[in-house]
Amino acid sequence: MWRLKKVYLEILINMKPKILVTRKLSDGAEEKLKKNFDVTLNLKDEPIPNADLIKMANEYDGIISTGWDDLGKNFFKNLSKKIKIISQVGVGYDNIAIEFAKSKEIKITNTPDVLNESVAEVTMLLILGSSRRAGEGYNLVRSRKWKNVIPDLTKTMIGSSITNKTLGIIGMGRIGRMAAKCAKAFGMKIIYYNRNKLSEDLEDGAKYFSDVKSMMPECDFVSIHTPATSETKHILNATTIGLLPKHAVVINTSRGSTIDDDALIEALQNNKIYAAGLDVFNNEPNLDERYMKLDNCFVLPHIGSATHETRLAMSMMAVDNIFCFFESRPLISEVV
Ligand code: DGY
Repeated sequence: MWRLKKVYLEILINMKPKILVTRKLSDGAEEKLKKNFDVTLNLKDEPIPNADLIKMANEYDGIISTGWDDLGKNFFKNLSKKIKIISQVGVGYDNIAIEFAKSKEIKITNTPDVLNESVAEVTMLLILGSSRRAGEGYNLVRSRKWKNVIPDLTKTMIGSSITNKTLGIIGMGRIGRMAAKCAKAFGMKIIYYNRNKLSEDLEDGAKYFSDVKSMMPECDFVSIHTPATSETKHILNATTIGLLPKHAVVINTSRGSTIDDDALIEALQNNKIYAAGLDVFNNEPNLDERYMKLDNCFVLPHIGSATHETRLAMSMMAVDNIFCFFESRPLISEVV
């Protein structure tokens, strides 16, 4: 009897927590995870249908999720008590019903900081791409129509310079500040709107506006770097866009919900502003078709954090949050 008990005890002690990884992570992160956990990887990287994900989730102690997974109200409603942590690969977590996670005492973690540089790089790509008409230029070359163009010194592919222009940043958090640093290297002046004024050190010479409307008329470019919340929903709308100068450019690397598409599209269609550069959209990847018809809109497919280096760092951080949790160490980046 005692012998049997001992075997059970040994099985229990050796039992590794079960972790479900919803999408393919960087190889190094998957290898690390496998060492200490009973891991189900998604090697084919096929999206798991929502109904299956809800069923599967109940078998696991933890999940490593991505922004592509729908972990809304419905997901949490159907969860049993087994799952204890959801470690999201991504700084944004608007796909997760945080209040429901909290009520079920499930820890949520994300991956801030490690993507600051790569999102700031894409911000610059959008600033340059939209102001220097890179989308139109690219299409001209690839469509072989360039050879038919008789160049005009003051008209052909003429864009707008970014040097000495003012960039208004909405949301001066870690990514916003990194974008400001990059933009300054291109000779741009920085102003910002944020819920709170930053310390002088963090402001680094940027001028603060306590409300977004008063900043708009000062912007040659305006770039959004806030999380997607009810507060930031449609922060750029018909009113705020209407306050921008006619030569202004709108940049978005945050989330589509921060922009009212109807208002931005109307402003672009009627040249009420100069251009937009967008990496994020409402209803991705099925963005509003009207964007596709606008030459003055430079679009990218949500690639803000998409570099080998950054995705590895994000994957590692998500895995490390799992290690911390199951080793009862403080989490690196706890959301709730
Ligand atoms: C994030 O981390 O939220 C990014 O948008 C993912 O690429």
